[in-house]
Amino acid sequence: MSYKVMGITAGRKNGNSEILLKEALMECEKQGADVTMINLRDYHIIDCTGCTSCTKAMSEGKNAGCVLDEKDDKKKIMDVMLNQDAVIFSVPTYDLMPASVYLTFAHRSLSYETSFLESIGAIEHRDRVAGLISVGGSTRAWQSMALEGLQATMFTTDMKVVDMILATRVPGNAQCLLNDELMERARQMGEHIMEAVRTPAEERKWLGEEDMGWCPNCHSNALVLGEKQWDGVYYPVECQVCGAGGNLVQTEDGKWKFVIQEDGLLKDRTTVAGRAKHLEEIAHTQGGFFGDPEKLALVRERKMKYVNKQFKTV
Ligand SMILES: Cc1cc2nc3c(=O)[nH]c(=O)nc-3n(C[C@H](O)[C@H](O)[C@H](O)COP(=O)(O)O)c2cc1C
Repeated sequence: MSYKVMGITAGRKNGNSEILLKEALMECEKQGADVTMINLRDYHIIDCTGCTSCTKAMSEGKNAGCVLDEKDDKKKIMDVMLNQDAVIFSVPTYDLMPASVYLTFAHRSLSYETSFLESIGAIEHRDRVAGLISVGGSTRAWQSMALEGLQATMFTTDMKVVDMILATRVPGNAQCLLNDELMERARQMGEHIMEAVRTPAEERKWLGEEDMGWCPNCHSNALVLGEKQWDGVYYPVECQVCGAGGNLVQTEDGKWKFVIQEDGLLKDRTTVAGRAKHLEEIAHTQGGFFGDPEKLALVRERKMKYVNKQFKTV
């Protein structure tokens, strides 16, 4: 059986992100995959307007799509992307995080929110895996939110991340070609992707470096101090990406590690069950607003002060 693998990049033409992606995809092709690749810079993608008409329709049991579906290339790409067994994303780091060309594309995925659409029976569940490559001119220090930013965009379309590469210190165009180790690691990502797609979905696991990042659940390298959540759940320390909760523990050799507590994966955003908890939150928070005519009237009245106030613009 031929597996479908897609590569999506957002870097310079023939630049580092494209080259590393192609190296990974060539390995997939070698192993028999049917490969597609695009650079988002070749497409027209409009920013999400924030209208939320997609999720409002979902809450009424309908799949309305996006109001911009006919206006740009997002749907054309998604029709192919969602029909893949695996997708590798390779994105340059700008200002510590993924370049906006990619983020604009990713933030338009709300109308494809798989857990919503599956829960209303609008789509069938499909298991997909993903590999992530962040490419920057600097070390980890100047790419502190790069992979984590990419990871955060994987939930909406239910992509299980099985491998990640932080490609560091490649500022020049195609400079990655001077780093044999990095090129080999990109090829290995292709190998990992093929191994993952050939593994039954319920047995798929992380194939990147075992000790990558702080979080033993999603391998992000970013933790935040916890705060009491909407339903009272509190963890002293949380993984910024997957939401795993626990605390820092010092090991005998004096190193610190993040240990997830017993109920710490209750809201694990990498799983459908964990994300369903967020749907509960949305229903709870919005229910207290949209469902209350008095509150709505009060907001309408108070809003006029701001609607009527205008400053000079540019
Ligand atoms: C606007 C801009 C911001 C950047 N910010 C960062 C940064 O915060 N950290 C970093 O490591 N590299 C940064 N870089 C360097 C790029 O990530 C680097 O050149 C990378 O190789 C670009 O990938 P590409 O060759 O695929 O286009 C920045 C580059 C640009 C153009």
